[in-house]
Amino acid sequence: MKKAIEVGIIVVAGILVYVVITLLPLFFQRELKTFENDNELRMAALRSFSSMPKTYDEIIKLTNTNPNNPLTKEKISLGKKLFNDKNLSQNRDISCSTCHVLKDGGADNLPTAVGDAFQENPFHLNTPTVLNSSLYFRQFWNGRVKNVEEQASGPIQASFEMNMSKEEIVKRVNENKNYIKDFKSQNLEVSFENVTNAIAAYERTLVTRGAFDDYLDGDDSAINEKAKKGLGIFITRGCKGCHAGLTIGSQSIQKFPLHSWWNEWLDIEFVANKDFFLPEIIIKDNSFPFENTGGFKGLNNEQKFKVPSLRNVVRTAPYFHNGEIKELKEAVRIMGKYQLGQIFTQEEIEEIVEFLKTLDGKIIE
Ligand code: HEC
Ligand code: HEC
Repeated sequence: MKKAIEVGIIVVAGILVYVVITLLPLFFQRELKTFENDNELRMAALRSFSSMPKTYDEIIKLTNTNPNNPLTKEKISLGKKLFNDKNLSQNRDISCSTCHVLKDGGADNLPTAVGDAFQENPFHLNTPTVLNSSLYFRQFWNGRVKNVEEQASGPIQASFEMNMSKEEIVKRVNENKNYIKDFKSQNLEVSFENVTNAIAAYERTLVTRGAFDDYLDGDDSAINEKAKKGLGIFITRGCKGCHAGLTIGSQSIQKFPLHSWWNEWLDIEFVANKDFFLPEIIIKDNSFPFENTGGFKGLNNEQKFKVPSLRNVVRTAPYFHNGEIKELKEAVRIMGKYQLGQIFTQEEIEEIVEFLKTLDGKIIE
């Protein structure tokens, strides 16, 4: 008898917990702001984002910010040659542009980068885009260096990237008479630092502008209605809290996934079933909502990552630091759930993706 009462209590308690979890999303629904017209939406957008300049000269003004590496036309064109030169890698098989393909959004569309002699990145890191990177607050997935000048010395020397020493680089550059002429005419010594500075100078010109910039600048017809809805969601639901500024991201380092007790141990998916949300509970074997290939844990191993810029994001699949997610829609769903604690409908996800398409741009020449 006593046993039966105990079992009964456990069953009732179980049902109660189940009902509470099922109803949880209802308590967190809030009235969200909607935008009446383009002016209202644009005003709200301009509080978080700004548009890229229209001309090359304005770009140079914007990105010529490192007093130790002043930009000149000659240095930029030398940097472009070096950026594309496979002779700067140990087996003369890759250059910066092998992994950062400008016409493919400045990345390589591989889950993880493949360097000199087909070596994979040991942390299974995904190649981020170089486009607009000079405008980021710091460089790399964990933000460990502060500008493109410092960044450029990394891949050249990394054993799994270009695998060269500083001395070998100077030797290779000196093999090429045209380079010697270029350095001489600019009164520059052929040194490792001047090589990386020239590459960085070229990177500072790789700035893109697209439909969203036209919209911010006042052209209502630059983006479609669906994208405007997506932009509205991006603003009101809080994506802009992390992906903001001129580069729509890469202005801060943030935790991912944001921790809460259920994110840490359980994966609870509320699946819409007719009119109810039914929870589907999975116990997790790692704290990312995808496979932890490579084991990279970001800054100080604290799962802190540089928030990626979302400019040109439609062209830089697969997504996240280890390239585990192939579809942009899935990346957006994960962000909604793990960074904002919100379950988006399929329609909302598609609207956000439509907005992200407007962030695609062309390099301003
Ligand atoms: C083997 C492929 C590969 C090569 C070659 C390569 N990169 Fe990268 N690049 C990567 C990967 C992977 C990362 C991310 C590494 C990390 O965060 O630790 C990266 C990061 C960057 C970043 C930082 C972007 C950001 O979002 O923070 C810049 C800028 C960059 N690379 C420029 C260059 C330049 C310049 C060269 C040539 C000197 C180069 N890369 C060569 C794969 C490559
Ligand atoms: C609390 C900060 C934060 C919020 C809010 C946030 N994000 Fe992110 N986002 C990040 C971080 C950090 C990453 C990188 C995580 C990683 O690679 O492991 C990221 C990555 C992404 C990526 C993948 C980009 C790439 O190149 O791999 C997309 C797409 C994205 N976010 C879109 C969104 C959208 C849409 C929203 C709103 C629904 C949003 N984010 C809200 C911090 C945030």
